[in-house]
Amino acid sequence: MNTSTKTLEIVNQYISELSYSHAPKSLYDPVEYVLSLGGKRIRPVLMLMAYNLYKENVKEILSPAVGLEIYHNFTLLHDDLMDKADMRRNKPTVHKVWDDNTAILSGDAMLILAYRYVAECHSSSLKNVLDTFTQAALEVCDGQQLDMDFERRNDVKEEEYLEMIRLKTSVLLAAALKMGALLAGASVEDAQHLYDFGVNIGLAFQLKDDLLDVYGDPKVFGKNIGGDILCNKKTYMLIKALEKADKQQAIALQGWLEKESFQPKEKIEAVTTLYNQIGVKLICESKMREYYAKGLNSLSLVSVAEETKRELKAVAEHLMYREM
Ligand code: IPE
Ligand code: IPE
Ligand code: MG
Ligand code: MG
Ligand code: MG
Repeated sequence: MNTSTKTLEIVNQYISELSYSHAPKSLYDPVEYVLSLGGKRIRPVLMLMAYNLYKENVKEILSPAVGLEIYHNFTLLHDDLMDKADMRRNKPTVHKVWDDNTAILSGDAMLILAYRYVAECHSSSLKNVLDTFTQAALEVCDGQQLDMDFERRNDVKEEEYLEMIRLKTSVLLAAALKMGALLAGASVEDAQHLYDFGVNIGLAFQLKDDLLDVYGDPKVFGKNIGGDILCNKKTYMLIKALEKADKQQAIALQGWLEKESFQPKEKIEAVTTLYNQIGVKLICESKMREYYAKGLNSLSLVSVAEETKRELKAVAEHLMYREM
């Protein structure tokens, strides 16, 4: 079993050898730009590691694994446009370096490229792999739309938020693990347990992303802090803050949610102060731990030796304690 570091090296090597020398440059330069900025590459790494539970030569499935990473990067181009985000991976986002139309069309091209790469797998698994990928890819859109719809609502329930992040984030991590298992010829049961492991660590992963959006170090996180607060994103922390606020805090929080014109810095500081007073960071961390534990439970049901699962466990733990 390769370590996660070794697996990441294999993925990065493959991505660095991809060629974008097509015309028109204005379509493919942004593709090269975003893919060259790295990121955690967690989706292809999970896919290779799931495969590696059963089979040795992970390089055999690099193409579909990198297809998932290209798909993920496509979602980021569109997400940054939708979230009005100017920074990602410590660099200006594609719609800032180029323009909105470029982020749209280069993103579309990446979605299509993603399918090309994912489909480059053994024909015996092709249908299952494409079904799993397509289901997740569509669910990500469902989740993204709910995320946007929730910006305009102030009555979003915890359960609705959890379902939204399951769709926009978790299912892709889950599909990565399931696709790795399917390609390795794992049993249907194992593929499902790995999928469930992915859903649970994916929920913890998005809870952490939301937490870092408030409490992260922008240089390490690579994104501007407070973007979610400015967009009135219904994060777990905001939902809990609305639920647990006393009368005065509730009026203040509601005031910031309704304010049409404000200094961004002022709103971020005020809402963060309310979060600190209400203590939502600890509540969020406790929810993360709950899903992490659920994830480990799903992983424990996978029918390979416990020793073999050690690296996957370490990755899940690393995602919990990450600062980027
Ligand atoms: C960002 O994904 C979008 C979320 C689902 C939170 P990552 O945190 O995996 O971003 P990169 O690829 O490492 O930059
Ligand atoms: C990301 O959610 C979900 C997708 C990209 C589909 P976020 O909007 O929180 O991701 P970041 O924080 O911009 O990376
Ligand atoms: Mg975003
Ligand atoms: Mg978003
Ligand atoms: Mg975020």
